[in-house]
Amino acid sequence: MTFVDPELSPLTGNVQPGTSLLNAAMQLGALVRTTCGGFARCHECRVTVSAGAEALSVPQPDEEQVLGAGIHQGARLSCQARVVRDGHDVVVLIPPRRAS
Ligand code: FES
Repeated sequence: MTFVDPELSPLTGNVQPGTSLLNAAMQLGALVRTTCGGFARCHECRVTVSAGAEALSVPQPDEEQVLGAGIHQGARLSCQARVVRDGHDVVVLIPPRRAS
């Protein structure tokens, strides 16, 4: 699995099936925003899966509702998407962090 952050070098590593993309990001040192801690409430953990989506869990209706049409362009809530099989080909794009 590879996380691509526009502000960092790509981070690649293996994660166990069952791991959420949010936890995978933490394990590999990638920075994905969250203020709800992975409980599907803040919607700040949104990422784009650009490759390997077939290795991830299918979006559930609640996630589909949050993401709207973006789901057809690979958008996922990283706390809800889980690796369900070998995810070595998964590429996750992290959006740029907003200036504060
Ligand atoms: S971490 Fe808050 S919605 Fe995913």
